[in-house]
Amino acid sequence: MALAQTLPPLDCFEASRIYLNCQTRDGTPVVIRSIRPDDKYEMRDLYPALSQRTLYMRFFRVMAQPSLEEVSRYTDVDFDTHLALVLMYGPEQRMAAAGRLIRANAESDVAELSCLVIDELQHRGLGKLLVAQLMETGRQWGISKIVALVHGENGAMLRLLKGMGYPSELVYDDGEYTVTLDVSHAPCKDNAMHHATVTAMHQGVEPV
Ligand SMILES: CC(C)(COP(=O)(O)OP(=O)(O)OC[C@H]1O[C@@H](n2cnc3c(N)ncnc32)[C@H](O)[C@@H]1OP(=O)(O)O)[C@@H](O)C(=O)NCCC(=O)NCCS
Repeated sequence: MALAQTLPPLDCFEASRIYLNCQTRDGTPVVIRSIRPDDKYEMRDLYPALSQRTLYMRFFRVMAQPSLEEVSRYTDVDFDTHLALVLMYGPEQRMAAAGRLIRANAESDVAELSCLVIDELQHRGLGKLLVAQLMETGRQWGISKIVALVHGENGAMLRLLKGMGYPSELVYDDGEYTVTLDVSHAPCKDNAMHHATVTAMHQGVEPV
């Protein structure tokens, strides 16, 4: 039986009030919570410290410093078609990562995933922690397929998605992977490895 059926569904009010105390693999306390409109100030202040590579991997273009109005599109979200979580790091609760699921309408069970971890805290397991939580929350929100557009050189994101434990398909086209994860059932390590590899072989691309 699909675990999605046994998880309590999450409406947009509940989705906007998620607050979870977690730990990174080195024991640093982190909070994963729903994004709030007042996060726009801290988010805007993060941009100058982000590398061009990080911005390019996230937005697929060279980015200028966004205005507060532009940033508010990422923080003032409806939790109906757009669900966003932030990861606050360490005792001082700095914003270290943000991730989101966006779907075409509130009835759709397909969502596009994107996320970003600030440069200085990448490769410590934060991306994995946040994306795993986004997927779990997404399932409760009614999502059964998650799609991510990943730059062909983004080994970290491809590896992260592969390790999530959901059956996945990779399609490579013109320098980008479209990764589709079936999140309708509980994650299982072997499942994801097998599907990712088999699909990649069928597509004639290098398994990641
Ligand atoms: C991609 C990103 C979200 C990953 O987050 P992170 O916190 O750095 O990654 P994690 O530490 O959770 O590691 C996740 C997996 O990727 C692997 N990984 C991390 N950095 C890597 C790198 N540079 N190359 C290859 N693999 C890498 C890790 O080993 C880990 O796999 P493992 O658990 O099997 O060892 C982060 O690097 C980022 O924000 N990049 C820029 C924006 C971006 O690419 N967003 C995604 C757009 S869809």
